[in-house]
Amino acid sequence: MQMSARAEAFDRWIRGSFVALNTELEELYFRQEDRARVEGVGDSLKAALRDEGHVHVVALLKEGNTGEGFQSGFNVLGNVGLYLGALRRHELTNPAREERSPFPEASSLALHVGASLGMAPRFATSHLATHNRAINGVRKSFTSLRDEFLFIDENTRGILALQTAADALTRIVHIGVTSPAADVLFSTAKRALQDVLRFNERLFTELDIERFFYCVRPYYKPYRVGRLEYRGANAGDFSGINELDLLLGLCRANDPYYANLLVDKMSFMLPADQARLRECMTYTSLLDELLESVEEHADADWFRRNAVAFLEVCDLFGQYAAQHHDGLVKRFIEGPASGLSKAAQEGLTASGPPLPVLLRSLEVLRDMRTAALRTDMPSRHKDLQRLRNATSGRAA
Ligand code: HEM
Repeated sequence: MQMSARAEAFDRWIRGSFVALNTELEELYFRQEDRARVEGVGDSLKAALRDEGHVHVVALLKEGNTGEGFQSGFNVLGNVGLYLGALRRHELTNPAREERSPFPEASSLALHVGASLGMAPRFATSHLATHNRAINGVRKSFTSLRDEFLFIDENTRGILALQTAADALTRIVHIGVTSPAADVLFSTAKRALQDVLRFNERLFTELDIERFFYCVRPYYKPYRVGRLEYRGANAGDFSGINELDLLLGLCRANDPYYANLLVDKMSFMLPADQARLRECMTYTSLLDELLESVEEHADADWFRRNAVAFLEVCDLFGQYAAQHHDGLVKRFIEGPASGLSKAAQEGLTASGPPLPVLLRSLEVLRDMRTAALRTDMPSRHKDLQRLRNATSGRAA
């Protein structure tokens, strides 16, 4: 990757002192009786973090956006975003008590680079996951804590596997859901989703609840860039997950709830992902394609074979959605949050709304993806049942 000397120096700092300072601060917070207490702790370390980073930011701002190409700009955006995310985590900025970011230089740099790339002016999931370039085996992170690496690595593996599943289903669109050759693509999607289930299970058992809650998650809070507040990154900010929703037909782009979600996340995705998602929104879902033939061809071998494979993919995807919500979110967020005071619960989520509101909206997503029997929201329960009946020889 072509990087200017200043961009490279910033990157080296982010991978070096930045990680060391954050880690030291985390150890200080974590040692306290009240692990949520941040203010007034480790002030000299916080000042070092702020001031050392500031030198790099000012140098880059002076250099301007020198057109070193997408990769370099994307990397600078990620680095300034990690810097601002850490300042937020250590309460050197807090959007609730400010009208604009107290870091105007970092804001200007992030806004300039973000706007020129077509992305939100903050670090995104891709910076820490799919486009987090390892150097000699070490990827970028906020700290060097075991639990942060575990979280980043399993998130990345999960996202990569969901992307593989989405790729496979997208290829089915072009050969038609009834094509004999779709079998290999359904198999790829199934294997990839089984992988995701395995990675999430590992995360569930190996991630330390307290370390994650107190030392990892806080770096994903919303913060201001200039005047505006931008929500935190989450592992869902890539197009693959929504491609799966739309191609399986479990969510629809013309449903206002779901469409809002898509619009909200567009700028948190890489431009290439934004284009994929836009394209995907123009396709007929595989479910709708199968339903078009169910009446006439339910008994045909070609129909049954592919419909069964489709239903197996849907079931695995539903299991993933339930596992995310009932396993990961419950164990690592809802559980530990319930022990906190009301004040400490504020600003807990990456997207900003109070936790109960966020949990309800995540529940809706889970229920769409599992095609739950609900009438108060759009669910494909009946349609999937129709397909299941048809494939098992019952009346469709
Ligand atoms: C400790 C593990 C995890 C926890 C506690 C967790 C929690 C959450 C929470 C709370 C949100 C809502 C964002 C917000 O705060 O506003 C979210 C979003 C999301 N997460 Fe996770 N997550 C975890 C791991 C993962 C992994 C490994 C994946 C993918 C393989 C994933 C995929 C998603 C997706 C796709 C979304 C966006 C909403 C959606 O479309 O479902 N998460 N997660």
